[in-house]
Amino acid sequence: MRLDKFICKSTELSLTDAVALIENRRLVVNGIVAIEAFCQVHKNSVVTLDGETLIPRNSRYFLLHKPTDMICSNIDEKYPSVLNLLDVDRLSELHIAGRLDADTTGLVLVTDDGHWSFNLTSPKNRCQKVYKVLLSRPISSDATQRFLEGVLLQGETKLTLPATLDIIDPYNVLLTLTEGRFHQVKRMFATIGNRVKSLHRQQICDLELDVEVGHWRSLTPAEVEGLSVNDQ
Ligand code: URA
Repeated sequence: MRLDKFICKSTELSLTDAVALIENRRLVVNGIVAIEAFCQVHKNSVVTLDGETLIPRNSRYFLLHKPTDMICSNIDEKYPSVLNLLDVDRLSELHIAGRLDADTTGLVLVTDDGHWSFNLTSPKNRCQKVYKVLLSRPISSDATQRFLEGVLLQGETKLTLPATLDIIDPYNVLLTLTEGRFHQVKRMFATIGNRVKSLHRQQICDLELDVEVGHWRSLTPAEVEGLSVNDQ
């Protein structure tokens, strides 16, 4: 983590204040005076401010059920940010791990642990995301095979990774992906001549959505650990 972020996570100071303290040479990392805000510190680093050791607060991890007409962004734009649903302190320190479109509903993870979210959303991780899809036309008989083989999304040069399609009825399907390209589900159905009418993410890895729309809860330590990727 960057030193300026570490200071914010250990004190009530703003990022601007943290940077000013570093510029004034008041931070020492492992015995050496820090001069750059972006200097990296790790969980075993000893960081002092004016001689006092800084201990960062524990990271926070939330699951929330995104409604439509809210956006996965830290700031409100045309629609309000989903972070408005969380009534917790220091909202500005949080970010979203794996975005959904404004018209998509479902499971969104929010944290202040950049390392955890980076690993979780990395394409290398191959974490499964399950989407419930309502289609505008009946699903074609070759869709399962085509998604399994991979399709070429418009404007891209690499086939999508094998994806699993479970057909509930001709208009309702479950699609399981292990990657997260831009508008991937909608674009995959476009390649087979169909259109997504509504989209809902119901699962990320082993974690299933279990709160009502617009509601949230903290992840348990076991869930956080279960979603952690060993990046050694
Ligand atoms: N794929 C999409 O097309 N939209 C989403 O919100 C998520 C996945």
